[in-house]
Amino acid sequence: MDIWHIRGGRRLEGVYRVQGSKNASLPILAASILAPMESELENVPQLRDIDAALRILRHLGCEAEQHNNIVYIKSNTLTQSAIPHRLMLEMRSSVIFMGALLARCGEARLSPPGGCQLGKRPIDLHLAALRQMGAEIEESGGEILCRAKRLHGADIRLPFPSVGATENILLAATAAEGETVIRGAAREPEIEALAAYLSAAGCPVAGAGTDTVRVGKLRPRGSVRRRILADRIAAATVACAVAAAGGDVELQGAQSAHFSTVLHFLKQAGCAIITENTLVRLRSDGRLRAVGRVKTEPYPGFPTDAQPVLMAALLKARGCTRITETIFENRFRQVPELRRLGAEIALFDRSACIRGVDALHGAVLNATDLRGGAAMLVAGLAAEGETTVCDTGHIRRGYEDFDGCLRSLGADIVLTQLE
Ligand code: UD1
Repeated sequence: MDIWHIRGGRRLEGVYRVQGSKNASLPILAASILAPMESELENVPQLRDIDAALRILRHLGCEAEQHNNIVYIKSNTLTQSAIPHRLMLEMRSSVIFMGALLARCGEARLSPPGGCQLGKRPIDLHLAALRQMGAEIEESGGEILCRAKRLHGADIRLPFPSVGATENILLAATAAEGETVIRGAAREPEIEALAAYLSAAGCPVAGAGTDTVRVGKLRPRGSVRRRILADRIAAATVACAVAAAGGDVELQGAQSAHFSTVLHFLKQAGCAIITENTLVRLRSDGRLRAVGRVKTEPYPGFPTDAQPVLMAALLKARGCTRITETIFENRFRQVPELRRLGAEIALFDRSACIRGVDALHGAVLNATDLRGGAAMLVAGLAAEGETTVCDTGHIRRGYEDFDGCLRSLGADIVLTQLE
């Protein structure tokens, strides 16, 4: 159990070097098994989810090691095509190994993935697309068995731009005969990052970042070296923390275009924001105003992962903000916890209305999920007195040395770990 103790009310000042992206690293780690090859990845954050992916790689027979922020993988020794249930449960992204194993071994045996409980998280789109490419899939007794003697290219139309389904199709398509076209593809920067890795590995990919992506067969080059892009959600979280607590912080290495919708609302709330190449400077006096309406949408819309932290930043903002969540059915789990700090939030089905209060007071909270937990830390920084966030490890799944980063900006925050 992680226990986060925060004494709120301090301004945040200084420099935050944005960590590498968790959600870009994970599919690339899965892609490293597509052919016998060596991958060297820089700027990989040190996180529980990354550890889980490395454990899966080692279980499959690969050499996989992380030294600080560099990960080395040698996948010529892969011997397995099955992932045990205990490893699948550790995170949602374990499901991305399905497309990669199918491409490499012609078979993948796994179980439904774990990850944050945000409501139903089916994988029907993944399975339908793989079937369209020639895979036979049996689901029984909590196990998914995918087999394909030969995968063939297909023209796949996704009814919803699922990030995970787009990634799984991209990976499986690298072994297919003929071109695969994904229409209605997710356009997230993490998809572009995966496509860039695949190109470097020897796979023709065109259109990543648009809604139509074309993938050809991989002709492996033997080794790949890539740098992982900056984590737009970690950057958005720190930006929201500064907005809420007040302060003046430079986010270094940030790709502002990747979280411009978040910056747009923080500006509307009264923050002064300067963006320049890979630098974002954000100043806030901690007295924000409400921003009207926010709706989560697939990229390039406002990201669902930044919804809880933006909510936390606006708890004291003058006026009312209505946030509508359109991606996940159960992504307001942070709300009852934030109310314990004195926040006024009304829930209506898929919307939350936040009426800014004059002050928040410390309380003991339970982290409900990764981004919900981060929202509780952001709110604690803006609350008077001590806030304690009890966390079964959610926050460290996605944020690298988060207490250290916030402390270096002047926050009074301590993380203790109990067995
Ligand atoms: C990824 C991100 C997650 C982010 C989400 C949406 C990673 C590791 N995780 O998750 O942080 O919140 O994108 O931006 O990159 N859906 C189906 N059937 C499917 C697949 C998805 O109905 O087969 C639905 C989901 O239930 C959900 C929505 O589509 O309501 C979005 O899911 P998806 O884009 O697939 O998210 P993930 O890849 O799980």
